[in-house]
Formats: sequence, structure tokens, C-alpha cells
Amino acid sequence: MRPNIICHMISSIDGRLLTERWNAPNGEPATGLIHRVYEEAAGRLGGQGWMVGRRTMAHYIEDQRKPQLLEQPLKRPAFKGSPAGRKLAVVLDPSGKLLHAGDDLDGDHVVSIVSERVEEAYLESLRRNGVSYLLSGSDGSGLSDAVAALGEMFDVKTILLQGGGTINGAFLAAGLIDEFSTLIFPSVDGMAGIASIVDYHGSRTTQPSSDFRFQLAGNETLEAGTVWLRHKVLRRHVA
Ligand SMILES: NC(=O)c1ccc[n+]([C@@H]2O[C@H](COP(=O)([O-])OP(=O)(O)OC[C@H]3O[C@@H](n4cnc5c(N)ncnc54)[C@H](OP(=O)(O)O)[C@@H]3O)[C@@H](O)[C@H]2O)c1
Repeated sequence: MRPNIICHMISSIDGRLLTERWNAPNGEPATGLIHRVYEEAAGRLGGQGWMVGRRTMAHYIEDQRKPQLLEQPLKRPAFKGSPAGRKLAVVLDPSGKLLHAGDDLDGDHVVSIVSERVEEAYLESLRRNGVSYLLSGSDGSGLSDAVAALGEMFDVKTILLQGGGTINGAFLAAGLIDEFSTLIFPSVDGMAGIASIVDYHGSRTTQPSSDFRFQLAGNETLEAGTVWLRHKVLRRHVA
């Protein structure tokens, strides 16, 4: 059984995801307010941790490298560090671009999901730093196996998927999102081309949401007029 996955995002009224572009209702920079509203709601959702794409994690772990990937995928065992009761901070980093200096991120235990083409020296550096890892697929596409393995390795029942839009789109297309938890912040981005909170980068002929229906499961007004919507994701035949 894979963990229950809740996609938790804060969005502008027009569905965009770059929070640093929004203003608070009083006209002041909104960054602190957005962070507070987002994290408080995440805390209420619970779960054993959170997952993000490599580009979102690069905001927290800025050191990156240019990987020399193996020519052929090579299966190797997972490594479990010492979470010691901490929540999990999981990054989907198929090429192993992020350079981790330790296994702790704001009190959470870092887990890296890498592809089977990552070099042994990179895995060794993760082990040296106590960062847990598991290998999945040849290019980051084995999301279903990855989350099932994560659930089994750490006994995860529920985990939050916290963006960005690219990884959310990949999870939706793979049928791996059970619920959307969407905070609508009272600001409009308005600029064409700014990413959305779900941005599928696959074939344009395949709409990732076409197999699903969405059922409202909760709504609430939070600080500064932010609206919190929760939608269950139903398979087409269930709706
Ligand atoms: N508003 C919000 O609530 C919110 C929440 C989170 C993030 N954000 C913002 O979102 C932005 C980043 O979003 P993003 O969409 O550019 O990037 P992202 O989703 O954070 O990361 C995308 C990366 O994930 C990796 N990946 C692993 N498996 C993948 C798969 N199956 N399919 C696709 N990619 C996979 C790839 O890394 P490689 O390129 O290394 O292959 C890919 O480039 C940041 O500016 C961040 O601040 C906003």
C-alpha cells in the first residue's frame, strides 16, 4: 500500500505559484504572511513528511553539481539513515544534482529519491551525510514505485506533496494524488507564462486530469482572506 498523498499548495487567484510575485491585501510584501498561512495549514493536515521536486528543494539546498550519469541504469539498495522520529523532507532529484551537507532540514530528516543512473560516488556522499535515499527508475519516471518504497521504508501513511507545479503535474498524471489542499491567496499574478500550481510537462495530447473527478471535502476562510479548499480526487468510474 502506498501512502496517502495530499497535494498542498498556495495559489494566486489566477492559479499561479510564484509567491514572491504577490502582494498582501494591505499592499505590503506578502512573503512572511504566505509562509505562515501555508505552514499552519500544512500542520493541520498532519502526515509524516513532505515531498518536493528538485527545483523547489534548491531554494533550501542551494549547492548543486553537474552530474555524470551512468550510461545504463543500475539497481542498488536503498539506504536508511536515522530519522529518529523526525518528519521526512523528501526530494525527487533524479540526477542527484543537490549537494547535501547533512540529513537535517529545519528539524526534518532528508530523503532523496534518485534514478538508477546516479553515480556510486554521489550515493556514497549521501550515506556519509546521513541522507536516506532510494533509487527508482532510469529517469525519475518511476514515481509509483518510489512512493510505495518510501511508504514501506519509513512506514509512511500520509505525506504532503508540496510542489512545484512540475512535480505535481507528474504525480497527477501518474494517478498518485489522493487530495488537493489548495490555499487561494487574494492576489492576482496576471502574467502569461508564469507557472501554475499543476504544470504537466508531458504530451500535449494527454490531459493528466481527464481520468479524475474532484469532490469538495472542505472549505474555510483563513488569515488575510485566504480561502482553503480541500478536494478529494476520485477516479472517473467512481464519480
Ligand atoms: N505556491 C506554492 O505553494 C509553491 C510550492 C512549492 C514550490 N513553489 C515554487 O515552484 C517553483 C518550482 O517549481 P517547478 O515546477 O519549476 O519545479 P519542481 O516541481 O519543484 O521540480 C521539478 C524537478 O523535479 C525533478 N523531477 C523528479 N521526478 C520528476 C518527474 N517524474 N517529472 C518531472 N520532474 C521530475 C526534475 O529535476 P531535474 O531537472 O533535476 O531532472 C524537475 O526539473 C519554485 O519557484 C517554488 O518556489 C511554489
